[in-house]
Amino acid sequence: MGVHGDNVLISETKLEKVFSMKGGNGKSSYANNSQAQARHAQSMLHLLEATLDGMELHSPETPFVIADLGCSCGGNTIYMIDVIIKHMTKRYEGLGYKPPEFSVFFSDLPSNDFNTLFQLLPPLAINGGSMEQWLVPDDQRSYFAAGVPGSFYRRLFPERSINVFHSAFSLHWLSQVPESVMDKRSTAYNKGRVFIHGAAEITALAYKKQFQTDLARFLKSRSHEMKKGGSMFLVCLGRTSADPTNQSGAGILFGTHFQDAWEDLVQEGLVDGEKRDIFNIPVFASSLQEFKEVVETNGSFTINKLELFRGGSPLVVDQPDEPTEVGRALANSCRSVCGVLVDAHIGDQLSDELFARLEIRGTRNAKELLEQLQFFHIVASLSLA
Ligand SMILES: C[S@@+](CC[C@H](N)C(=O)[O-])C[C@H]1O[C@@H](n2cnc3c(N)ncnc32)[C@H](O)[C@@H]1O
Repeated sequence: MGVHGDNVLISETKLEKVFSMKGGNGKSSYANNSQAQARHAQSMLHLLEATLDGMELHSPETPFVIADLGCSCGGNTIYMIDVIIKHMTKRYEGLGYKPPEFSVFFSDLPSNDFNTLFQLLPPLAINGGSMEQWLVPDDQRSYFAAGVPGSFYRRLFPERSINVFHSAFSLHWLSQVPESVMDKRSTAYNKGRVFIHGAAEITALAYKKQFQTDLARFLKSRSHEMKKGGSMFLVCLGRTSADPTNQSGAGILFGTHFQDAWEDLVQEGLVDGEKRDIFNIPVFASSLQEFKEVVETNGSFTINKLELFRGGSPLVVDQPDEPTEVGRALANSCRSVCGVLVDAHIGDQLSDELFARLEIRGTRNAKELLEQLQFFHIVASLSLA
């Protein structure tokens, strides 16, 4: 349950305390609305595997340590970890070595539903006191697992302790909404909107600056934590346009029907206009160039691969000709990622009203949504400079 009625989006510390994907197993939970992310990740597996192939192999006597940053609470993180471990096991075996023991850190903000995630983990396979990789059945886990609560914009692990960092669909979440965007006296005040898609240029530039600061902090922290010869594979929302007020798929998701549903509540007198104005989605889909500039300016990492990848639609529907199904998918998928923030800002009941209106709007615009709502992802493979 959210913190009712507080304007929680003001500082980084406050956002970190409340933010998460929708936990549990309900209809708008992340666990039940992350099939699109799973599909998009699968289409990029060859890029992940190429990253793993470029890694130096250390002695199999030392544990191989993997961290998934922004793991959330669905099955996707477990699937990706399996891919990484199976691939690395094959590499060791291919060279005639016994694979090392694997250790995995699932990391996310403290309010992430780690309980749901941990319940999805298969049991640990231990044979005669040690874990023999090649004897682990598919329904068992071939690694030691631990949860690490904290923001990836700060240090999370000891110096030189991680071989592989993986992070999918997370780095576009900013550490905070820039203060100027919520300050009525500022020219960057985002009046009448809840996202930067179609907003004033100065508002989008404030977001861009926040993204640059955040990504630089992320890289600095990881540069301390990564072992020499390690690798980092990052996937986050990107955009095709050079103009940051055009946020591609993220713009359509948060800056069109969702924004109109907020306006419905304002027009109906259910939410005060100013209360809506200070609600902003802390997401920035960067361009490839913007991402590259931050990595290069930071200087801690070498870019092995950096590309914009067409991910597809975030809506997973069995019957695309059924508009109500599209409307429901839009509302559930949007609520699974930002519902916790909405609940915290206007309370659970008004949040129900908001997402009900989003569902109606999605149903009315089903055809156009299926055609136009497409995500692009920035895919980056980095190693220590
Ligand atoms: C869309 S989910 C991605 C989940 C998963 N990686 C997947 O592929 O399905 C984004 C996750 O990033 C996490 N996140 C956002 N900002 C974060 C931060 N500053 N530090 C750590 N995790 C963060 C969110 O809590 C959320 O669980």
